[in-house]
Amino acid sequence: MQVPRTSTPSPERDAQPLDVGSTPLWSLSELPPTHGALTSDLDTEVCVIGAGIAGLTTAYQCLQEGRKVVVLDQEVVGAGETMRTSAHLASALDDRFTYLERRHGRTGARLLAGSHAAAIDTIESLCAEHGIECGFERLYGYLYPAAAEGEGDAEFLSKECEAAVRAGLLAEIVEAPRFGFGENAPALRFAHQGACDIGAYLSGLARVVLQKGARIHTNSGVSEVVPGQRARVQLRTGQSVTAEHVVVATGMPITSTVSLPLKQAAYRSYVCAFRIPAGRIVRGLHWDDEDPYHYVRLAACSTPGHDFVLVGGEDHKTGQNDAPEECFARLTAWARKRYPFANEPSYQWSGQILEPMDGVGFVGRSPDLGDNIYVITGDSGNGLTLGTLGAKIVADAIAARANDWSQVYDPGRSMLPVLGTFISETTHVAAQYFDYLRPGDVDSLAQIAPGEGALLREGLSLHAVYRDENGEYHACSATCPHLGGVVHWNAVEKTWDCPCHGSRFDGFGRVITGPATCDMVEIELRGADRIRA
Ligand code: FES
Repeated sequence: MQVPRTSTPSPERDAQPLDVGSTPLWSLSELPPTHGALTSDLDTEVCVIGAGIAGLTTAYQCLQEGRKVVVLDQEVVGAGETMRTSAHLASALDDRFTYLERRHGRTGARLLAGSHAAAIDTIESLCAEHGIECGFERLYGYLYPAAAEGEGDAEFLSKECEAAVRAGLLAEIVEAPRFGFGENAPALRFAHQGACDIGAYLSGLARVVLQKGARIHTNSGVSEVVPGQRARVQLRTGQSVTAEHVVVATGMPITSTVSLPLKQAAYRSYVCAFRIPAGRIVRGLHWDDEDPYHYVRLAACSTPGHDFVLVGGEDHKTGQNDAPEECFARLTAWARKRYPFANEPSYQWSGQILEPMDGVGFVGRSPDLGDNIYVITGDSGNGLTLGTLGAKIVADAIAARANDWSQVYDPGRSMLPVLGTFISETTHVAAQYFDYLRPGDVDSLAQIAPGEGALLREGLSLHAVYRDENGEYHACSATCPHLGGVVHWNAVEKTWDCPCHGSRFDGFGRVITGPATCDMVEIELRGADRIRA
């Protein structure tokens, strides 16, 4: 199956860098020059699409075996979701071991815990072996019940502790300051978790991959992958890469129109970073069991005597919250209540999480394309470890080597065991199409402030109109080019987000995140003068 491109490429739009909003704490450091945009066709052994942690680690693993590797990214190294995490490294999975054991059996839960633990080990050893200075540190992880002293907390903690231990983790119930500060409360403590500066790690990994001979082509967005014994990776700019193996490491795979988008749901998660005096909060990964939950960790700060505390959470389905800026306000209020020494956030950003319906990522041969095309997706909030362990699974598959983890992560596995969840999620997605009946967000163009976007109804049509900082209007059809959902404006990221399967587009309608592989369709605003009045 080929992934179709349905909108017309627009050279003017394509010439501009993608324009998105919030600013993560992390930045790339000492990134050596990459190979820029691909300007001629290439032939290679392995073509990796996506220069985030999954793509670069896969490239590394394949290079270690002497393979010829080309990495393509539609923007630059780390422009996707890798740099939008809180950079925690956890084998203590958010999906809870009681659930994972029930759903995937004791053996499955052991494989899942072991694979994420091995991923942390891999990151640690890559740092040591290649001198990647990213502040990698080993930490305890602390899980707190939803409420400090709620009924059933002790039972919740002890059941989860028993399941985590059965899964092979070092876990115990301790008394610890809740979220690292204040009075002690019961917590489930996991040993051997970790954290790093993901910008520094990704920069170091890119350096190593380049030194080992890979080509990394940036500004080289892919429009389709044509399967075959030698698959063809077609770029939006017309060039192509022919490869024996293609690895799709783009978050939601751009090669799966239906099967994988239907097996997972896209969420936005929010993070605020507050500069605080050092030593006030117990170092560790802290999270609770609320819905939506909160997570906390510390990160290095260049101001002497200070740390950053990262406070995250407020997750919601992508495109299904029309006031995302309020998520930051709620996180800030939560942080100030818990940490009275926290002031205004120095950084705040949001990122996309893909939640598989059975709690486990999808890694291995693509269920939609040929045997030589692989996917790594379904992070479930643990994208750094999933990307790292996924690279190992894929490298083993390419080498035709057995891998103990491959079955539990098989992208082709059935969702029948979670049929109830599947039906309710699919019904929820179907309900999003009623948005076609909704009124616009605004009645006239003049109501759209510079730098903002809004839906505007014109007769039977809904238009997605972005007003740039210079006051110019840019209009697209509000119909998502993936499967026709109605996009919503995300005022935090300055993007159009689709509530159906999480495709995202910048203000001008250029695709940022799949499953869509093409831009929104630009339109002329008929009757614009009337609407303007
Ligand atoms: Fe599937 Fe938009 S992402 S319809």
